[in-house]
Amino acid sequence: MIQFQDLHKAFDGKQVLTGFTLDVKDGETLVIIGYSGSGKSVALKHVVGLLHPDAGDVTVDGRAVSTLDRPSLAALRREIGFVFQFAALFDSLNVADNVRLGLERRGLPADEIAERVREALALVDLTGTDDRYPAELSGGMRKRVGIARAIALRPRYMLYDEPTTGLDPVTSAVMDRLMVRTREHLGVTGVVVTHDMRSAYTVGDRIAMLYEGRVRQVGTVEEIRQTEDPVVRQFIEGRPS
Ligand SMILES: Nc1ncnc2c1ncn2[C@@H]1O[C@H](COP(=O)(O)OP(=O)(O)O)[C@@H](O)[C@H]1O
Ligand SMILES: [Mg+2]
Repeated sequence: MIQFQDLHKAFDGKQVLTGFTLDVKDGETLVIIGYSGSGKSVALKHVVGLLHPDAGDVTVDGRAVSTLDRPSLAALRREIGFVFQFAALFDSLNVADNVRLGLERRGLPADEIAERVREALALVDLTGTDDRYPAELSGGMRKRVGIARAIALRPRYMLYDEPTTGLDPVTSAVMDRLMVRTREHLGVTGVVVTHDMRSAYTVGDRIAMLYEGRVRQVGTVEEIRQTEDPVVRQFIEGRPS
């Protein structure tokens, strides 16, 4: 379980998170929605210790992330797949080698590596693209390689930061399906940050809205769809203020 516990974070005196509290239950996909600049990525980065909280903390299966020493943090990161907003692939490596890299770093035997690469590429519908280079791929395909790379490591948790932003509707729907499939096939617990409501409704078990530094409302997809909170309504309906 991932627990955001009264997380506070400011940059240069500007408060971004002001008591962000949220539990992500094992096996669920929780979607965090909110306006651009509301602190969604900042919240996510605390889960893997890329940012240090001013107060509060994130705990992952009871481990308070900001208190972990280097080896413990490294061990934690091995349990968490992070798919960044901009898929950071190595341009000089082909698709298979991009996926293989993390597995080699873990010192897995060659046959197991080959099997995992094959399996991960199949799961994201990229079978047969092993020898292609990132420059030859569409944006959607690059994102899928990013997902394959993360799931090849068999994480317990997957964090997705804006997985569909910048993609056309069809490619977005493909991404949504992959996220659902990843949870179903691998039983991964997921946190998805997005401002794409269609994606949120498709992949989410629950949805939380981050607003003014904290959770404005959290509930099932149905509860959020039927919300009477004016702030949440305005956001999900995409109405200008
Ligand atoms: N490393 C950083 N240094 C300074 N300001 C930052 C940093 N990371 C994020 N911010 C600021 O925090 C706010 C929230 O950013 P972010 O979490 O990226 O928003 P979003 O909800 O769009 O993901 C923004 O105002 C952003 O400029
Ligand atoms: Mg962001």
